[in-house]
Amino acid sequence: MKTIIVLAYLLSSVLFILGLKNLSSPKTARRGNLFAMIAMLIAIIATLIKNEIVDFTFIITGLIIGSTIGVIIARKVSMTAMPQMVALFNGLGGGASAFVALAEYYRLTGGLKPHIIISMIISFFVGAVTLTGSLVAFGKLQGIIKSAPIVFKAQRFLNILIFTLFLIAGVLLITNPANNAYLLAILAIAMILGILLVIPIGGADMPVVISLLNSCSGLAAAATGFVLSNNILIICGALVGASGMILTRIMCKAMNRSVSNIIFGAVGTISKDIKKDDKQKVIAYTEEDASMMLENAQTVIIIPGYGLAVAQAQFALQELVKTLINNGINVRYAIHPVAGRMPGHMNVLLAEANVSYDLLFDLGDINNDFQNTDVALVVGANDVVNPSARADKDSPLFGMPILNADQAKSVIICKRSLSPGFSGVDNELFYNKKTMMIFGDAKDSINELIKLLKT
Ligand code: TAP
Repeated sequence: MKTIIVLAYLLSSVLFILGLKNLSSPKTARRGNLFAMIAMLIAIIATLIKNEIVDFTFIITGLIIGSTIGVIIARKVSMTAMPQMVALFNGLGGGASAFVALAEYYRLTGGLKPHIIISMIISFFVGAVTLTGSLVAFGKLQGIIKSAPIVFKAQRFLNILIFTLFLIAGVLLITNPANNAYLLAILAIAMILGILLVIPIGGADMPVVISLLNSCSGLAAAATGFVLSNNILIICGALVGASGMILTRIMCKAMNRSVSNIIFGAVGTISKDIKKDDKQKVIAYTEEDASMMLENAQTVIIIPGYGLAVAQAQFALQELVKTLINNGINVRYAIHPVAGRMPGHMNVLLAEANVSYDLLFDLGDINNDFQNTDVALVVGANDVVNPSARADKDSPLFGMPILNADQAKSVIICKRSLSPGFSGVDNELFYNKKTMMIFGDAKDSINELIKLLKT
């Protein structure tokens, strides 16, 4: 039986790795999910057969309660609220790792070897930081807590002081493992630190923080794996930790920021408004004006953004693309790595509408083509085409690579108003002479455009 369980864990680990590999491209992502689901099933069955931790009554009760809550949440959550849900799940994952290590601490009291107690301390600390940090991230994204950075004097000094207290409590627990006061101190310190580390981070940086916390939840699970001497938990935790870290790096690169700048930079406190005079110059064009421009175009690049998801206009947009292609126009989609509210958000949205992957182009592959493009059609996007990211050193977006929509011969922007995007920064592209603002819900505007182009 022992060999079967070891082999099952090995198979499960290989499937997890294959799952991750397949998730790296939209074309193979469904297969990747399938591999990961099968891997999880095998891991759960093998662990249930091993059954040396708790009895089946606890396991089945937990499974029923957890699955019911999971199904209800997953069915109810809208696509746009996905980051909050991921934040919550990360937090619960970190908290669960810390609690399992805690239970093991009380089970083994007295006979704790140094390497086990060190693993426990890592699990308590990283798990508890992940729990409260993720709850703050959830609160900010859900609008329960102010999304702008919350900063105060001597904030970094306080964080360093608290971290030093953790190190002292950790050393004391290693030297005297039976004293659970040190353990409770570590948990309390970690929970406070989780809150303090995330409150100074602005809402626009939250995806990176969530990815980082995801990585932390993996590290906490791996540490708990060492506590339990459970290989699959160590491997899965390490995979989550590493993939979360890689995703964090990819996102940082897409925003041209370093991880430390995101965590300690408190970016997003300054919001520079465009002068009122410029705002008054904006003309509201009609769908009729836009349809004429599209009819005369030979090349069109579409830039989808968060507003496309809010309006659920992906199906209408694809219908528009088909109409344009039928009219002999060369149409492509330009996908910014942080468009929307979660990694790959636009890919998922457009996949729903069966958009062919051949029409989707990453920022690096299409950005030089804007200068030879007749129309850049921006649908519900804002920050990802904001030129202040290139030139305005005071802008919270400064340094983030943007899609060069402003270099196209003409720009059509579909959004409801002149409101800023997620970062809270005004967008000078709205006031550019070659820009045509079409105000309204993206789905209504696109449907109107389709009607006009078909007549
Ligand atoms: P945003 O800059 O957030 O702009 C979206 C725009 O959509 C808004 O300005 C809004 O303007 C418009 N909009 C909302 N509802 C609409 C509707 N029903 N119809 C038409 N327009 C609508 O989006 P983006 O350009 O995709 O940039 C993403 C931003 O989110 C970046 O700052 C990024 O850092 C951040 N972020 C990204 C992620 C990831 S990983 N993708 C996660 C969290 C945050 P109106 O209100 O005027 O309509």
